[in-house]
Amino acid sequence: MDNLIINGQRKLKGEVNISAAKNSVLPIIAASLLATEEVTIINAPMLDDVFTLCNVIEELGFNISINKLCNTIKIKEGSSLKICPNEDLVRKMRASFLIMGPMLSKYGEFRLTRPGGCNIGNRPIDLHLKGLKTLGAEITIDKNGGIIAKAKRLIGERIYLDFPSVGATENLMMAAVLAKGTTIIENAAQEPEIVDLGNFLNALGGKVYGQGTRKITIDGVESLKGGKYSPIYDRIEAGTFMIAAAITGSTIRINGVNEDYCRPLIEKLKECGVEFVFLNNGYSAIVNGKSRLRAVDIKTMPYPGFPTDMQSQMMSLLCLVNGSSIITETVFENRFMNVDELIRMGAHIKVVGRTAFVEGVDKLLGCKVQATDLRAGAALVLASLAAEGTSIVTDVFHIDRGYVNIENKLKGIGADIRRIAV
Ligand code: UD1
Repeated sequence: MDNLIINGQRKLKGEVNISAAKNSVLPIIAASLLATEEVTIINAPMLDDVFTLCNVIEELGFNISINKLCNTIKIKEGSSLKICPNEDLVRKMRASFLIMGPMLSKYGEFRLTRPGGCNIGNRPIDLHLKGLKTLGAEITIDKNGGIIAKAKRLIGERIYLDFPSVGATENLMMAAVLAKGTTIIENAAQEPEIVDLGNFLNALGGKVYGQGTRKITIDGVESLKGGKYSPIYDRIEAGTFMIAAAITGSTIRINGVNEDYCRPLIEKLKECGVEFVFLNNGYSAIVNGKSRLRAVDIKTMPYPGFPTDMQSQMMSLLCLVNGSSIITETVFENRFMNVDELIRMGAHIKVVGRTAFVEGVDKLLGCKVQATDLRAGAALVLASLAAEGTSIVTDVFHIDRGYVNIENKLKGIGADIRRIAV
């Protein structure tokens, strides 16, 4: 296990390049199971979660080749396939559930242990299963909570999601693309990663319309071919670096930003007093956090609301601004695990249910803090960059699930940060 050692209060400067989005690449890898020919993912982020999902499908019998130098992943159907992925791998990562839709649609069957993942809430998969049943799947749950699903051929139907779940929308899109007839997903998630998945499926010959709106229509096709695809940039990684500039009172340039996709965060940061200049049609952002920043209230919501995946990082910033902020987390019920660690650093935060009241303080003090999940870990790195003295962030494996080389990217813009194995 690794720790990050950070000497805080260094000004950041220079440029950082954002990697492709973890949350786009994972469903795209899962959707590659649907193709009859080889799929090449270009500019893929070399992340632990990506490797875990590749291991899951390799173990099923797919041929996977990962080129870490060129950031490419090639996926091709093997000759003999299993329908039951390795339990230990599935338990490691919640996104393993993304193979349900493709496996059922293409192979008519799958068996899955209940997936694991970040401990940020209860995270049921009832919406996935209800939607798959609507498409004609027979689903049974065994005595250990494992899922057994079967279907001869899925049949297109109208599905209404009670909540615009990202994963359920993705699973159902992937299930419906090879189903007989037309599927309509209403109250669908509208996240940019959903748009990316729809575009990827269409690049392979799928007929997906309306991705990015509340109503997605999918006309089923007989098969999907192979192809090359480059996923979108990671709006959460870009947002984390925007906050790195803001929290250290620095100016940096971030390349690989989609201005529109980052808008919910950008608008809040502007309200705080952070200045932005966009270049190259919004692909690069110069972020200036030099003015004294102000408190803002945030409430997480499905896209285009404020992203739950940026809530923890934003909390670190709000610990150090003028005034009091209210943070309301509506998406996951257990996403304040970084609070005790921030309090250890000198933050003033009180949590009541799903609301955190943050009173800005003049400074945080470096100390030993534990990354409890992916985004909470990133939030502690940000707090440490601004804190007086040295911080040690432990359990960095959480951060490695979703950030490519976080310490090298931060070092490249002037942070005093190093990784040690413990
Ligand atoms: C995805 C992202 C995650 C992000 C989240 C919300 C990936 C790999 N992960 O997770 O980083 O934080 O979207 O933007 O893309 N829910 C149910 N029943 C279901 C499914 C979900 O009640 O069947 C609830 C969840 O418990 C949660 C909420 O819906 O409270 C949002 O979950 P969902 O949108 O499904 O998130 P994920 O796809 O797991």
